[in-house]
Amino acid sequence: MKKLRVLVVGSGGREHALVKAILKSRLLEELVCAPGNGGIAKECKVVPIKAEDISAIADYAKKGNFDLVISGPEVPLSMGLADILRAEGIAVYGPNKDGAMLEASKAFSKNFMKKYGVPTAQGRNFTDFEEARKYIEESPFEVVIKASGLAAGKGVIIPKDRAEAVEAAREMLCGGSFGESGREIVVEEKMDGEEASIMLMVCGKDYVMLPPSQDHKRVGDGDTGPNTGGMGAYAPAAVATEAVLEDVRNNIIKPTLEGLAAEGIDYRGTLYVGIMITKDGAKVVEFNVRFGDPECQVLMPLVESDVLEVLNDVALGKLDSTKVKISKKYAAIVVVCAGGYPGSYKKGDEISLPDDSQIAPGSWIIHAGTVLKEGKILTSGGRVLGVVGTSDTLEGALENAYGLCKKTSFDGAFYRKDIAHRELERIARSK
Ligand code: AMP
Ligand code: GLY
Repeated sequence: MKKLRVLVVGSGGREHALVKAILKSRLLEELVCAPGNGGIAKECKVVPIKAEDISAIADYAKKGNFDLVISGPEVPLSMGLADILRAEGIAVYGPNKDGAMLEASKAFSKNFMKKYGVPTAQGRNFTDFEEARKYIEESPFEVVIKASGLAAGKGVIIPKDRAEAVEAAREMLCGGSFGESGREIVVEEKMDGEEASIMLMVCGKDYVMLPPSQDHKRVGDGDTGPNTGGMGAYAPAAVATEAVLEDVRNNIIKPTLEGLAAEGIDYRGTLYVGIMITKDGAKVVEFNVRFGDPECQVLMPLVESDVLEVLNDVALGKLDSTKVKISKKYAAIVVVCAGGYPGSYKKGDEISLPDDSQIAPGSWIIHAGTVLKEGKILTSGGRVLGVVGTSDTLEGALENAYGLCKKTSFDGAFYRKDIAHRELERIARSK
């Protein structure tokens, strides 16, 4: 089998997890990451090209004769990185600009779901404030307000009443509160239920469904405090029962993939389906066109097949999903953050990490906001490390992750102590 020269684009925990999984592949010839982080730099070659500098990435991939480029984040994809590379004959894991619209424009995504009958909150798109105000004031349901464009997970406002909803719409449409991303907004019904993330590796109409996972957005224990990029996750999340997953396959994934094909979109990459499990069935909260972060970090350890082979098959349009093996184990990740996050925080603190010999098989220390400087690993972001444990049980996976967290330290480090609390409460109730 031909060995592959692989370029991973991105610099977070998600990309470190991808790098770790790819390094195990028997298909790998060389792995490079642009730009990577401190942990990635210890495992493979890194080049200082930013993920958003798509022409420099494409140049580098072309000159280096790379066979496969994997984009971790959505921004390069929405800028057209995959289109440029494909035009050069380089295989890409990640959709073209047209497919990336599912994440880059919530208005596009809303229209798409309406057109193809994909269950989601009822709602409408607006560019005109007066029209939005009228709709908000007259709608029979409570609403949420979303900036249509990319907003790094911050573009959704859940107002406590209609007046606050109107204000949020005004700030986006008239006040420029989210810049270009808020020039169009989606006003939609507030849904009730528990959320889960369903990550698919999509190749046209075939796909691999990875185990359902659940993220923890709020900074504090008990889901308190401000929203973050994600403080921890676990998989599989039992709230997405087999019946829920069957509903998702038949009523969400099938019309979505058929809709993409009908629009002439040859989708090859991750489709992240954020769902709300409501009393009327699963409904789409959002689509993303990349792996979740930190969800990716608990999914990669659960793929038993050669991850690089699956990514490459998707990129080449020859995925056979029946061949992909997923583990029956559990995985959990605890994100270790810098003091002050998600507000302002310090950078440049040295991180003390255990030796590899102190890390049990199946556990990983993933780097997110770190840099390697003169042989030392320093903090460089708000979410600094992701500590992953796996086991035959969820409790075991959490125990392994939390045990390993204690072996890491840096000034001001903190983490949530209650990852998977909903699931643990469910388990306790059922005993
Ligand atoms: P999004 O960026 O669309 O995923 O939204 C971020 C978060 O806002 C979601 O994870 C939900 O917790 C919440 N959210 C978004 N849309 C709705 C909705 N229609 N009803 C209730 N909560 C929502
Ligand atoms: N963890 C949520 C996301 O990646 O969007």
